[in-house]
Amino acid sequence: MKISKYLNRNKAIEYARMSWPELGYNSSMEPFYSWVINLIKKINNPKEINSIVEIGFGAGRILYELSKQFPNVKIQGLEFSSDMKKISEQILISKDIFAITEDQKIIGKKLENINLKDGVDIQNLNEVKSNQFDLTVCINVLDRIVNPKKATKELLRITKIEGYCIIVNAFDYEEKTPLKMQIDPISFENLLNDLNFKILTQKKSKLVKSLPKKPIRIFNEYGYVLQKK
Ligand SMILES: C[S@@+](CC[C@H](N)C(=O)[O-])C[C@H]1O[C@@H](n2cnc3c(N)ncnc32)[C@H](O)[C@@H]1O
Repeated sequence: MKISKYLNRNKAIEYARMSWPELGYNSSMEPFYSWVINLIKKINNPKEINSIVEIGFGAGRILYELSKQFPNVKIQGLEFSSDMKKISEQILISKDIFAITEDQKIIGKKLENINLKDGVDIQNLNEVKSNQFDLTVCINVLDRIVNPKKATKELLRITKIEGYCIIVNAFDYEEKTPLKMQIDPISFENLLNDLNFKILTQKKSKLVKSLPKKPIRIFNEYGYVLQKK
């Protein structure tokens, strides 16, 4: 079963270049990441967060922000693609690739509080115990997997009671791929309500995305700050 379009190293490098400023391209994704970071800042009680997981961390841009905002918290990154894990390791942990962020900080030194693991499918987080994390983060992953409902249930399961979960989906992801979002926004919000997720913040953003060698397009991102009841 094909799970991700970022399954080969060339694609992974292309994604890293889009995600990180100064890696060769201009970072077309930066306005999107700023928007996600503002969403993370909506969490009511950030001081109560002692364990964080991001699933499908890609090139690690959000992991880096989480590490900056929660420097004393252990952050676990889980990802399906081993190529994406290698790229993130190079940026966040070793010195093979340097990236310069918007605040001119050079990345490439080990961030002690981040641990990365690959080969993990969000639809089946067997190895992860229930009620583990104060904050679970999942950005633009549910919109490209076969079973987003199952994955959302997994996100709920691994989050602690009263813990937070941040989910972002591009529901109108338009590339012609069988992996496009398998659920519409209304059904997704019904699912969140049926599960034990309380929606604290719900934000929709119109963002302009310019990808290398592709026409500029406007797409809608839906972001949710949730709390497990
Ligand atoms: C569009 S990228 C988003 C990356 C990152 N969250 C970000 O916002 O920059 C989607 C990521 O989800 C990962 N992914 C795809 N299917 C997955 C699955 N079934 N389980 C875990 N990760 C998956 C891909 O390898 C890719 O890194």
